[in-house]
Amino acid sequence: MNTCRRNMKVFGTFVMVNIFVFIVVVSRSSQGKSGQSKVVVPNKTFWSKSVASEAYWNREQQRLDRFNNPILTNGTVPEKLPDWMNDSIAEESCEADLRVSTLVKDYNSLPKRFKDFLIYMRCRSYPMVVNQPRICKDRPFLLLAIKSLAPHFDRRQAIRESWGKAGQIASRTVVTVFLLGNATSVDHFPDLSAMLQYENEMHRDLLQWDFRDSFFNLTIKDVLFLEWLNSFCSEASFIFKGDDDVFVNTLRILKFLKGLPPSKAKDLFIGDVITNAGPHRDKKVKYFIPESMFLGMYPSYAGGGGYLFSGDLAHRLNAVSRQVPLYPIDDVYTGMCLRKLGLAPEKHKGFRTFDIEEKYRNNACAYNSLMLVHPRTPQDMIKIWAWLNDPAMNCQ
Ligand SMILES: *[C@@H]1O[C@H](CO)[C@@H](O)[C@H](O)[C@H]1NC(C)=O
Ligand SMILES: *[C@@H]1O[C@H](CO)[C@@H](O)[C@H](O)[C@H]1NC(C)=O
Ligand SMILES: *[C@@H]1O[C@H](CO)[C@@H](O)[C@H](O)[C@H]1NC(C)=O
Ligand SMILES: *[C@@H]1O[C@H](CO)[C@@H](O)[C@H](O)[C@H]1NC(C)=O
Ligand SMILES: *[C@@H]1O[C@H](CO)[C@@H](O)[C@H](O)[C@H]1NC(C)=O
Repeated sequence: MNTCRRNMKVFGTFVMVNIFVFIVVVSRSSQGKSGQSKVVVPNKTFWSKSVASEAYWNREQQRLDRFNNPILTNGTVPEKLPDWMNDSIAEESCEADLRVSTLVKDYNSLPKRFKDFLIYMRCRSYPMVVNQPRICKDRPFLLLAIKSLAPHFDRRQAIRESWGKAGQIASRTVVTVFLLGNATSVDHFPDLSAMLQYENEMHRDLLQWDFRDSFFNLTIKDVLFLEWLNSFCSEASFIFKGDDDVFVNTLRILKFLKGLPPSKAKDLFIGDVITNAGPHRDKKVKYFIPESMFLGMYPSYAGGGGYLFSGDLAHRLNAVSRQVPLYPIDDVYTGMCLRKLGLAPEKHKGFRTFDIEEKYRNNACAYNSLMLVHPRTPQDMIKIWAWLNDPAMNCQ
């Protein structure tokens, strides 16, 4: 009886709302007739059919775009899913894709690292060999995720003893993890597996996947980290991701995050932002990319030395990364994913990936208002952290 009356009431309100909407619509459209507020309907499409690019990455992106936006191909889904988007293939096998040798114009003359990248470009899942599935059980406010390399024991230890000290910092929960691939004998690394195992037993803060830990595979590290975050640390409020040769002023970052208005927190992505850049075409540069691989400009991106973003955005980045083919430069790739989300990273002057002026480097107070300085040795990290935590330090 009671529910029945409530239902009637709801229905009544519904009818009233509808009538109200009807009145508004009618009055609006009659206004339209009198020519005062006519809705402008575009007379042609606002997207354009793309002409197949000369460059492999661009062509792969076009293929994905057609797949994800059937409107570009007049409503028909044209091809089958690329292998790496097809879970039934990507999850199980990640076999070498030898077809690329015929699809990239000058494949045979490219340096070896490009061939290695291109052959495995479609593969995004590698087995996890070391995990800390419960490391985020206390819902970290800030997760520090540091890209490291197996032999960098001293850098990791210096970070643990300084800016990456996990626990309650300034009454917030901070969790630190190190991201590792496999430093393989292919790259002439000695076998460090027993030492890594010992380190992990001591600290329980390593995440390792079984892929070759090379510069061009840092994008894989990024993609796998976002996937891990989604599965094992989905409640982290904020994430700092960076290299193991930077100094991070964790105290400054926590202070900044605590004062952040909720409206800014959701889409937060800050760092040392590079705009209007494009690929280097000089073969001798570390960041060289051949024209047969990528054409065009890069979106704005935050330098991979370190950037800060929200957990909310991390989940959206993880999802959208399936719509962007892997690119061999990890920070540019993250910029591409942000652009796909309709976002751009924001420059924050506290991020100094190109260091500060030499005359300030030994000035404790210079670090007070900064968030990140690159590069710093393990000894520097310990020294600067002690400065920042010295109660006698007095900077105005
Ligand atoms: C489409 O609209 C633009 C202005 O909005 C106009 O200049 C153009 O002539 C129109 N084209 C057609 C085919 O109607
Ligand atoms: C798109 O589809 C519509 C309706 O099916 C058809 O009239 C039109 O010619 C098609 N356009 C192209 C470019 O194929
Ligand atoms: C995914 O891969 C399987 C196995 O090769 C294939 O049968 C299926 O058609 C693919 N799905 C799509 C949507 O391309
Ligand atoms: C890493 O690579 C080595 C060969 O260099 C191999 O023996 C080992 O199984 C790989 N995986 C891990 C997790 O170390
Ligand atoms: C990336 O890792 C995979 C898996 O270990 C490897 O086969 C590939 O050669 C690596 N790519 C580069 C560019 O090192």
